[in-house]
Amino acid sequence: MPTPQPGIFAEGNRYLHALEYSTAGTPRPDLIAAAVNAAHAELTEAVFAFGPELTAALMRDIMPTGFSDFQPIDGPKAHAPATQRDLLVWLHGPSRDHVMDAVLAVNGALTQGMALELDLPGFVYHDSRDLTGFVDGSANPKDDAGKREAALVPDREPGAGGAIVFSQMWLHDLDTFNRQDVGDQERVIGRTKADSIELEGDAQPPDSHVSRTDLKIDSVAQKMYRRSFPHGNASAHGLYFLAFACEQTRFDNVLKSMYGLGEDGMSDHLLDFSTPVTGSYWFAPSEEDLIRALSA
Ligand code: HEM
Repeated sequence: MPTPQPGIFAEGNRYLHALEYSTAGTPRPDLIAAAVNAAHAELTEAVFAFGPELTAALMRDIMPTGFSDFQPIDGPKAHAPATQRDLLVWLHGPSRDHVMDAVLAVNGALTQGMALELDLPGFVYHDSRDLTGFVDGSANPKDDAGKREAALVPDREPGAGGAIVFSQMWLHDLDTFNRQDVGDQERVIGRTKADSIELEGDAQPPDSHVSRTDLKIDSVAQKMYRRSFPHGNASAHGLYFLAFACEQTRFDNVLKSMYGLGEDGMSDHLLDFSTPVTGSYWFAPSEEDLIRALSA
């Protein structure tokens, strides 16, 4: 299999940054190539991922099956907006200064041809917790093989070694969430707060976040590899949801289940406490395909 972009799987960096761009005018692969080189010259990890339109323009021959724009979702309880953009650059590193160097280098290379739409610094909060205080990532695949299987387009398919990416910036209503006692908070998520132990049997509500997202469709677990990170300040804060999967339908299926559009019509209780303000699908090609597409 071609080599996946290493930044997808590198774990442990405490400072992160998402840059989302729209194409302004004709796509300039030379400038994106310069941004890739600029990022690689810094001591940070970088993942470059493309929206469907830019993927079709730069690498049509490896467009993954079913890869298309994120569409808005209208559920009985809540709405998820679509803000489909063209280029995601995800940077993460061991210190804020390293990540800032990479942000400036990448953005400097992209000033012509791309319009910066989202410029979001983030961080690891305590022991990888979301700002609600719950550990995020507990049910991620544990070993390398499991992570690759969940995240990468398989061999012999268009885009093999690449990953479908979903990003969604969420804003939390922490005042309302924190007014609940810890037991109620745990029933929203479906895990214990201190130790992230999954609630079992009758203790696990059908509308908890875990119940809505731990899905099997035609006996296939809808596994994904989540790399979300907290963002924000005193007045506005939440989660930048970021995840990698071998096929786009996994995200569609899990989102339907969260938004009350699954067979049981039940919505995720988490939607009472957090609201997405962006949503895009991306394709992060393998290293080889990235270099080839940008030098063509
Ligand atoms: C405000 C936004 C969100 C927050 C705060 C959040 C937080 C969490 C937490 C705390 C867990 C339990 C621990 C873990 O396994 O990581 C979890 C699990 C999970 N979340 Fe989210 N999440 C959010 C949005 C989403 C979205 C948009 C998706 C999918 C598109 C998603 C997919 C999943 C999956 C697949 C699991 C694992 C379920 C399992 O197999 O047990 N989450 N999330």
